[in-house]
Amino acid sequence: MHVRFSCFLLLMGHSYSFRHKLWQGEELKDGDEHVSASGKFKFGLFTPSSTPYSSKRYVGVWYNKPTDRTKSLYNEDEVRYYRSQMQSLKVVWIANRNNPILHKSSTIRIDNSDGNLKIFPNGENPVAITLVGAIRNITSVSLLKSGNLVVHVPYLNNGSIKHLLWQSFDYPTDTLLPEMKLRINFLIGHQWFLQSWLTYNSLEQGRFNVGMGLNVTSQLRVSCRGKGDQTSGDLLNGKFKSWNISGYKFSYFSNEQEKYFNYSVSEDVTSFPMLQIDWNGGLRDDRGQSIASCSVFNPGKCKSA
Ligand SMILES: *[C@@H]1O[C@H](CO)[C@@H](O)[C@H](O)[C@H]1NC(C)=O
Ligand SMILES: *[C@@H]1O[C@H](CO)[C@@H](O)[C@H](O)[C@H]1NC(C)=O
Ligand SMILES: *[C@@H]1O[C@H](CO)[C@@H](O)[C@H](O)[C@H]1NC(C)=O
Ligand SMILES: *[C@@H]1O[C@H](CO)[C@@H](O)[C@H](O)[C@H]1NC(C)=O
Ligand SMILES: *[C@@H]1O[C@H](CO)[C@@H](O)[C@H](O)[C@H]1NC(C)=O
Repeated sequence: MHVRFSCFLLLMGHSYSFRHKLWQGEELKDGDEHVSASGKFKFGLFTPSSTPYSSKRYVGVWYNKPTDRTKSLYNEDEVRYYRSQMQSLKVVWIANRNNPILHKSSTIRIDNSDGNLKIFPNGENPVAITLVGAIRNITSVSLLKSGNLVVHVPYLNNGSIKHLLWQSFDYPTDTLLPEMKLRINFLIGHQWFLQSWLTYNSLEQGRFNVGMGLNVTSQLRVSCRGKGDQTSGDLLNGKFKSWNISGYKFSYFSNEQEKYFNYSVSEDVTSFPMLQIDWNGGLRDDRGQSIASCSVFNPGKCKSA
């Protein structure tokens, strides 16, 4: 009796999660949103809040109805500044930041010819979201509760085990989420960065980035493009020496293969944790609180290199 009951629960759990998957042969139309299993994130096509009248459509992941913490900032100018440039749609990942779609009749689906997830703009060439580089029959796309968009293939004849082919956490844009790693992989010689938007209303890859320091890889660094980089200082008990990121607990991990930083927050602190580099080179938390800044408007915070 006990065993049968458990099986029933497992099946229920399984079919529920299917609603948060896109299978080969299914499609997401512009206007449809794919919701993460937790209900916390959405995946779909959007127009940034900073350009509400623009016809440019982007594919990405954003927070689904976060509770806004920016009002807890006491400096009203800073709140206004933050709100004007940070999306009120809390976008955390963009698939096609350099390749916007110019109309509202696209679909997103797995391309049968190569197994990749692509945007199919009506009558134009498809724009690839993933590059998995293999012809696969049974591919599924899911948005995990962490906000990570993942592409899986089940091993043949074995539905219980699946293989991760691609994940959006490996292609960060301007935002670091909990469970995401900002890292250096020594085996493949690759370093990951958060890369700012170009301007407050242009999502293209901009001038500023955040990553590990070139020389001091146990620290994070905002690269200010010749204006003097902003470094975090060392990490002690989850806090950086020079950066005050209230409520966020950071970890540093290193071995022969890789080094990375990640962080966690408790739900009590915020419903939409994010560490984001703005177009002006300012690193901000979910409240818009400035952590480090390259901005000329913030000269006091800029140290020379
Ligand atoms: C994969 O797709 C091809 C072409 O549609 C089909 O012939 C083949 O049987 C499929 N293989 C599996 C394992 O589904
Ligand atoms: C799936 O593969 C795993 C690992 O090879 C194996 O342990 C498991 O028994 C397989 N399950 C099925 C249903 O074939
Ligand atoms: C951060 O990385 C460590 C080491 O791999 C891991 O144990 C921890 O769960 C990670 N934290 C989050 C929030 O993912
Ligand atoms: C990093 O190391 C290189 C080579 O040793 C040196 O030329 C450079 O000035 C260092 N950069 C910083 C920011 O310390
Ligand atoms: C860090 O930020 C929090 C929240 O803004 C503030 O209350 C606290 O005083 C700051 N701590 C330091 C050391 O600046």
